[in-house]
Amino acid sequence: MRAATRNPGDVLEAAAAPAMALACVGLRKEYAGRAALDLDRLDVPGRETLAVVGPSGAGKSTLLRLIALLERPDSGELRFGLSAAGPISAEAAGGSTATGAPVDPWGNGWGEAGRVTLRRQMGFVTQKTVMFTGTVAENVAYGLGLRGVPADEVRRRVGEALETVGLEHAAGWPARFLSGGEAQRVALARALIGRPSIILLDEATANLDPANVGIIERIITGQRQRGTTIIMVTHNLGQARRLADRVLFLWEGRTEYLGPAVGFFSGSGVPRARAFVAGELVY
Ligand SMILES: Nc1ncnc2c1ncn2[C@@H]1O[C@H](COP(=O)(O)OP(=O)(O)O)[C@@H](O)[C@H]1O
Ligand SMILES: [Mg+2]
Repeated sequence: MRAATRNPGDVLEAAAAPAMALACVGLRKEYAGRAALDLDRLDVPGRETLAVVGPSGAGKSTLLRLIALLERPDSGELRFGLSAAGPISAEAAGGSTATGAPVDPWGNGWGEAGRVTLRRQMGFVTQKTVMFTGTVAENVAYGLGLRGVPADEVRRRVGEALETVGLEHAAGWPARFLSGGEAQRVALARALIGRPSIILLDEATANLDPANVGIIERIITGQRQRGTTIIMVTHNLGQARRLADRVLFLWEGRTEYLGPAVGFFSGSGVPRARAFVAGELVY
């Protein structure tokens, strides 16, 4: 039995400015007996923008899928929302026991309901977005529609989200016919409408024209200024340099560099990081 009824908004408030948005401890994921990801430790403070870079196959998408709770790690722990006000409790997130215990969503006391609540605090945009039949507005509303939000509130939030991505004029357009850049902006609106405290971007601007890349970078900057924690996988090193506070450079599933973006790009990192920045590593 759940001891207290709290609506998801309460949880969002609690997670608004966490001292530590999340921590990955000994996180490991294997495919066919091979480690795709094997991280010692990754702490992401609240409000940080972290760029995740590395060659193809380095484990970047695997890391994002684990953080998004789309896959379960083989070992290790994810810890969420260790805010200054105290951790988000399992109870608040719909778990059944271990009130106040920090927050391994695959651990004891955390059922699927708790993980769903945590997932709703994250917005995830991938490289290729699936648009459903229907209008842009319907596509943006999709996430909220499933959560029992009243219709006029949905309309208002859809309008807000579309304005944020500069597509308020496109609300009634059929979503299937959007250009690649517009579709990615709609995907961002769909992610932002849930007012996530963490935004996960997996090559969200890959293969887009420079104008749309610029627009999306401005949207990311805006979210960043609002205090949202952003974890972005990108092959665009200029983008990482423009947006990121820190860089995680992955190599064969392991941390090769984790530190200030300035250090990464100024060549003070490890040799492989320097070669990567210099474009000497094929990916
Ligand atoms: N679902 C999967 N099944 C099997 N192998 C996978 C799967 N997802 C990823 N891998 C493997 O794990 C490694 C890391 O993949 P990924 O995280 O997608 O790398 P990146 O995003 O850095 O290119 C790669 O060797 C990839 O082939
Ligand atoms: Mg990938």
